[in-house]
Amino acid sequence: MGSRKVLVVGAGGREHALCLALEKSPSVASIMAVSGNAGMEARWKCERIKNGDRDAFWEVVERNKVDFVLVGPEAPLVDGIVDFLAERGVPAFGPSAMASRLEGSKVFTKKFAQEHGIPTAPFQVFTNPTAARAYVRKLDHVPVIKADGLCAGKGVVVADDIEGALGAIDAILERRAFGDAGAAIVVEDKLHGQEVSIQAMCDGERYVLLPAAQDHKRAGDNDTGLNTGGMGAYAPAPLFTPELAARVRTAIIEPTLKGMRERGYPFRGVLYAGLMIAPDGTPNLLEFNVRFGDPEAQVTLPLIEGDFAEACFACAEGKLDESMVKISNKHALAVVLAAYGYPGNVRTGDKIDGLDKLAGKPDVIVLHAGTRMLGGDLVTGSGRVLNVVGLADTLTGARDRAYEAVKEIRFEGMHYRHDIGARALGPAK
Ligand code: AMP
Ligand code: GLY
Repeated sequence: MGSRKVLVVGAGGREHALCLALEKSPSVASIMAVSGNAGMEARWKCERIKNGDRDAFWEVVERNKVDFVLVGPEAPLVDGIVDFLAERGVPAFGPSAMASRLEGSKVFTKKFAQEHGIPTAPFQVFTNPTAARAYVRKLDHVPVIKADGLCAGKGVVVADDIEGALGAIDAILERRAFGDAGAAIVVEDKLHGQEVSIQAMCDGERYVLLPAAQDHKRAGDNDTGLNTGGMGAYAPAPLFTPELAARVRTAIIEPTLKGMRERGYPFRGVLYAGLMIAPDGTPNLLEFNVRFGDPEAQVTLPLIEGDFAEACFACAEGKLDESMVKISNKHALAVVLAAYGYPGNVRTGDKIDGLDKLAGKPDVIVLHAGTRMLGGDLVTGSGRVLNVVGLADTLTGARDRAYEAVKEIRFEGMHYRHDIGARALGPAK
């Protein structure tokens, strides 16, 4: 057994997947989380603190003699949690606040991409709503409107008509729906094609690409309904051929790592590139995230072999060796089970049944997200409740395993998409 005492920051399916990957790592002695969910609590120590309470966080780190931290979500990264820990001598896997601007500011990222020749949609930046409206009215196409800062996934408006784009400008710049995160906007051309999520584990200079994943953002089958945090994913995505991977490496990942290094902010952690692959095969950058995707982590972390914790530690120390991250030949597919009302007003407290039938089932992993214990029962706690992951030698097999397992689980109001993987496999059976 190893000696590393690792703490995971976060409470969703991504963080549950991180804990499982750490558990498979020989270098790890103990795992704990701040704040976790019912699934994580059942297996690892979890402590609850108020989001952003640095004193309470540091007290947990010290008392538990934590010597390595993995940060799941973007908000604490942008907020400088990695710098905070570094100043106190505790290494963490994740970028500094300055490097986290790649997710924390869309204006920063668009200008960065422009400067370094990284392919991305043409754009303009506005802080003045009158100027923004005048610009949009003159366009002969409908642009995408993006708030500059972090908006919990709600700051991008892909409108169907000019009125919709003007409405987004009003909401963000005029009414400040996202507060200071909407002090500036990016107005950019709409891109068409297929989206793919690329995650690279980076040490500032070297990097390893993880299997490409495809997320399903709309709530309903066939990409209908409202946008969500993600209703399912699969990896590897067959769309991401070796030729495309080579282009993404040289056109997007490598210039980004080089550019950040040159600016004095080497990027350490997971660089997530959300790409739109044009019909002619050109990869365009939609956005960067500075952490694992959710639900992309749920389908990529189970494919990592070798000592994941050691690879994360090497990234934090600037000593990554590609051989540290081995990828299995399997395929993974995750179906998100959502609560009644999601992605609108969510009802919580519904009792979840059937998980016992899946315990020990090979190649099925149930990752908790919005779950909690209530009077001895496992109940729904937020919109995305569980991720059911199937693993198999083929994508079809992974899909069948995941959907067979879904049949065992029940709670009032449970809903999910029936077509996860359809883009790669054709419509569901
Ligand atoms: P996020 O920043 O993850 O909330 O991204 C929002 C989503 O908006 C992306 O996953 C795309 O589906 C879409 N999107 C963002 N920018 C564009 C664009 N220029 N053209 C078309 N769709 C876009
Ligand atoms: N699945 C998209 C994200 O994590 O932002």
